[in-house]
Amino acid sequence: MIKRLKSCLILLFVITKSYAQTIETTSPLPDALKTIDGITIDKVSDWEKKRRPEILTLFEDNIYGQMPKKFDKISYKTTNEVANAMNGKANLKEVDIKVEKDKKTVTIHLILFIPVKATKNSPVFLLINNRGKENTDPTRKVKSEFWPAEMAIDSGYAIAAFHISDAAPDNKDTYQNSVLQLYPEQLNADNGMKAIGAWAWAASRVMDYFKTNKDIDFNKVSLVGHSRGGKAALWAGAQDKRFAMIFASCSGNTGAALARRKVGESIKAINTTFPHWFNNNYKRFNDNADALPVDQHLLISLIAPRPVYTTSATEDIWADPVGSYMSISEAQKVYSLYGKKSGLSPNPPAVNTPIIQSILGYHNREGIHNMTAYDWGNFIRFAGFHYK
Ligand code: GCU
Repeated sequence: MIKRLKSCLILLFVITKSYAQTIETTSPLPDALKTIDGITIDKVSDWEKKRRPEILTLFEDNIYGQMPKKFDKISYKTTNEVANAMNGKANLKEVDIKVEKDKKTVTIHLILFIPVKATKNSPVFLLINNRGKENTDPTRKVKSEFWPAEMAIDSGYAIAAFHISDAAPDNKDTYQNSVLQLYPEQLNADNGMKAIGAWAWAASRVMDYFKTNKDIDFNKVSLVGHSRGGKAALWAGAQDKRFAMIFASCSGNTGAALARRKVGESIKAINTTFPHWFNNNYKRFNDNADALPVDQHLLISLIAPRPVYTTSATEDIWADPVGSYMSISEAQKVYSLYGKKSGLSPNPPAVNTPIIQSILGYHNREGIHNMTAYDWGNFIRFAGFHYK
């Protein structure tokens, strides 16, 4: 009996695994280049004036919620500065970014290292940190591959991070206790902002700050996020065209992975475990991903013509590596409108074979759900290719 059960389980595992490798969807993907009214888009101007705003609104209304942009005041206070930190390689600056609206205040704390050797303003990587704060230790006593600051500095980049809890605690009962205090009307709207929207909002406030810092090359800000942070990074990149490049590591469901697949996390699973991430309307698709008016290739398309790099890990089937690749290969249509050719084939590349010299980059790293020095090494190569 036990033996039979065991072989059944193995069979199920093999079937799931082999389905996971196929490039199938459960229904045809919404066409990036056809408007809701059925008009075919074949020029950048029509994409930007008609189809892009239409898709952005569909994502706001059905998934991530609105992105309120108004506030009364933003101010920046340096709370700590260390010259020649990191054994003399970088200057550290910690800044409180304070945003005020209707007498309510939100403070986003930023940690920023700038290379000492820089002869002009530096390109920067900004991490949306969804893990423990020790991963972005400003003292560098703790060094984590999740934010390998030394590696970025040695490659000539500034590196920065803020923690998601400053924008919205990652908890279904307390997520309202920060950015959403400024926008309480969002809480009652079915298409209102939730935690992932608030994290993306905070990334944009860091952009506001970068604009004022002459050590930073404002035109070369790369936004990085892992997993739930990767979902937020893609949404921020779609919303805010000031980000030059987006890196989404293992972002999975409602990140880079297509919803119209039977692999890994479902909309129902994500909405059940994390009801505070996406808006109320998204719950209507719990049992019907095929009815969504968008899919995640359109989220990548909204970032066009700016470069996007996504990653997967071989053991992270929950985040659907193949579906995550399919969405970037599907997004090529929109990049092509801009004359940006990437030549991605429909099938994903072999494991540990990064696609770097392309407007849309990707790798599937051997191993588990994580963001590692291997991933960052490829981010730096990809950024270097585009900034050269
Ligand atoms: C869970 C969740 C994912 C998410 C991940 C993470 O696994 O289901 O959607 O990406 O956590 O943020 O690490």
